[in-house]
Amino acid sequence: MRHFLRLADAAPGGVRPLLERARAYREGHARVDFQGRILGLLFLAPSLRTRVSFECALHRAGGHALTLDAARGLWPLETRRGVRMDGTAVEHVDDAVAVLGRYVDALAVRAFARLEDDRDDHRDELFAALRERSPIPLVSMESGREHPCQALADVLTIERRHGPLAGRSVLLRWVPHVKPLPKAVANSFLLTAASLGARVTVAAPAEFDLEEGVWEEARTYAAVSGGDVVRCHERAIPPETVAVVAKSWGPHGAPQTLWRAGTHDDWRLGPRDFAAVPEASLLHCLPVRRNVEIEDALLDGPQSLILEEAADRLWVQQAVLAALWDSEERRHP
Ligand code: CP
Repeated sequence: MRHFLRLADAAPGGVRPLLERARAYREGHARVDFQGRILGLLFLAPSLRTRVSFECALHRAGGHALTLDAARGLWPLETRRGVRMDGTAVEHVDDAVAVLGRYVDALAVRAFARLEDDRDDHRDELFAALRERSPIPLVSMESGREHPCQALADVLTIERRHGPLAGRSVLLRWVPHVKPLPKAVANSFLLTAASLGARVTVAAPAEFDLEEGVWEEARTYAAVSGGDVVRCHERAIPPETVAVVAKSWGPHGAPQTLWRAGTHDDWRLGPRDFAAVPEASLLHCLPVRRNVEIEDALLDGPQSLILEEAADRLWVQQAVLAALWDSEERRHP
């Protein structure tokens, strides 16, 4: 694996080896050693879990994490291509990444979707260009299109509770919010669960569909894995569901323009929604707007795995970095 910017980067072995590695680290069956390794973390958008889990993943294994926050202490960065840089931006992100690649051993980057046009966010041009420019392994900490490390943690948590995902039914369930959010977390969960052979239902109001390119990719994975992917516009949780991954995202097409506050508040999840599926688990990547997206009683109740899911980020980050650095050593013995 050269980079981990998208689920597709995990080919040809898929994510199963990464999940097995993460689980072995978590259960103490294998040790990870990052002695002498430096990971750069470049944030062009805020974070709590991703930032701290990556930093701890390095520090707990003897390595060092160097966090760079674009909003504080760096030269203002330009992310668009081909523009005349006569505004406030002083340095182009391409140049910053190329320079950082001379100092650190891998670079993790976060830049959120612009939410102006889903097709632009789906093209993910910033990360595509960084991939071409970077002399070192890159990891996505969420791009306009995917949040692959989050999805790995989601499926690790579900499989620890419910067993292998192949043939199991999982629900990616839209929930309301106060503003339009990116689709990267939803996209990555759909792709990752489909690649593992799950039967994935995506339930959302009709105008909150995901981009067609993501559906196409998910169908391709499902055809190989024996899984299935289904669109649905019903709020109710299907009875065979083992896990509900709750997430909000913006309207399809032009999220900022089409957003209408307060629509579909009846999609908020609460204990009554889970009454018919007492064995099903609730996941949410966090941060969560309590009592807007999901009611307190459900978030803090026995079916909630939100804290296990956040904790599993640590093991997943270690597995991804170890796999990247192992591959690099094989390329440059
Ligand atoms: N789930 C997630 O990525 O959390 P942060 O935005 O806090 O990193």
